[in-house]
Amino acid sequence: MLDASRRAGVSIATRCGGKAACFMCKVTVKPGSELQPISDEERRKLAGLDEKGIRLSCQMRVTGRVEVELPPDPLRAAIARQLARQKEQDDELW
Ligand code: FES
Repeated sequence: MLDASRRAGVSIATRCGGKAACFMCKVTVKPGSELQPISDEERRKLAGLDEKGIRLSCQMRVTGRVEVELPPDPLRAAIARQLARQKEQDDELW
């Protein structure tokens, strides 16, 4: 899945280069997506998240049509959290 996303020009953040170590490539798989069954190793690493439809895009093997939801960009997510904290502090002052 990670390779396919890159070929399609969709960026999924990674740090481990696809070795199932960084967990940054998690995606949420939509129902009806065509994938090979999850491996025992990926299932163990996800520790139950796979039951919520979350998979590691570097470990998923696509067999047909697939629809996934990408995680938010880590930098944008950090900025959004900081802005939300700042707004809470500003609201407390006024
Ligand atoms: S790329 Fe690091 S866990 Fe998938």
